[in-house]
Amino acid sequence: MSLTILGIESSCDETAASVCRDGKILSNIVAGQKVHEQYGGVVPELASRAHIQNIVPVVDAALKTADCQLSTVDCIAFTQSPGLIGSLLVGSQFAKSLALSLNKPLIAVHHMQAHVLANLIPSFSDGKADPKPCFPFLCLTVSGGHTQIVHCESPTQMKVIGETIDDAAGEAFDKSAKLLGLPYPGGPLIDKYARQGDPNRFKFPEPQVPGLDFSFSGLKTSILYFLQNAGKSHSFKEEYMATGEEREKFIRDNLPDICASIQHRIVTILLNKLKKATIETGMRNICLAGGVSANRGLRTAFEGTGKKYGWNTFIPALEYCTDNAAMIAITGYYKYLAGDFADLSVISSARAEW
Ligand code: KG4
Ligand code: ZN
Repeated sequence: MSLTILGIESSCDETAASVCRDGKILSNIVAGQKVHEQYGGVVPELASRAHIQNIVPVVDAALKTADCQLSTVDCIAFTQSPGLIGSLLVGSQFAKSLALSLNKPLIAVHHMQAHVLANLIPSFSDGKADPKPCFPFLCLTVSGGHTQIVHCESPTQMKVIGETIDDAAGEAFDKSAKLLGLPYPGGPLIDKYARQGDPNRFKFPEPQVPGLDFSFSGLKTSILYFLQNAGKSHSFKEEYMATGEEREKFIRDNLPDICASIQHRIVTILLNKLKKATIETGMRNICLAGGVSANRGLRTAFEGTGKKYGWNTFIPALEYCTDNAAMIAITGYYKYLAGDFADLSVISSARAEW
């Protein structure tokens, strides 16, 4: 007997739906929201409104692409937390209404757990199935709101062993991009410009944070001072304060090198902590996940580090790195197998403890 899960994701500014049958993804539909670009970041109220407009057509498209009728769906999985509360509520109310009207079970999914399990979604390169990780494994999850090292014993047993004490890696990318005058979300643009740049041209400091935790707020400040001085120094000195025009010219003339240097520092902060975690845990199966794992520099450096230290490395296919509902559906699949269901009184939460 087959098991069909409809997954729904609406935690931030992507409305997404996916159909998963027996652990295979049959459709993965994502509607982004262009409306936030002009504001330089996600505006929660506008995000909620866009989710309301998008959710019915997105779910319809996911069912149609999968050639699936609502009546054959066995279970509805949705993102319960963490995220923007208004955005989460749209997805959860929709999922609950569907579960109630179809008389089907409901599964509440933790968005960060789903990013990790994106590593289990079957994917193919050059017509061949990609290898997938066996448990236990470590996962470096890097998104716009979180940066975590997660110790995974099974699809439903995970523990965060390191996380950011301030900004997330995605925020470090986006805030750096904003300082460079690039539109939101700037992470993919830094990635694009960095490809032509010299990562060693400018040196940004590596924060000294104890244990397996991360910090990115100091990097942002150091980039701010660096740009205020038009590259003359990383510290704030009035006498070096460049004019707006000088600053713009400096950025224009050096954009690829600045982007490559920022990206290099973010990547080394992440991978140095990951190396430390592998030594402390003795783990050899190492995964990457979250929106920032779409970054070309991080993917390459992660695989290079893995080769050097003898890790088995895994990265989800690109479409499962940034926010999507396939990861919600696959998490729903594993939670279904574990009998972990929610009832209609389950509450959405902007923050969520593991
Ligand atoms: O996981 P995600 O889609 O959403 C959250 O759960 O937050 O991650 C979004 C983050 C944004 O900060 C975005 O700039 C970043 O992922 N991102 C990238 C790239 N693609 C997405 N950062 C650097 N390089 C990329 N190619
Ligand atoms: Zn995410």
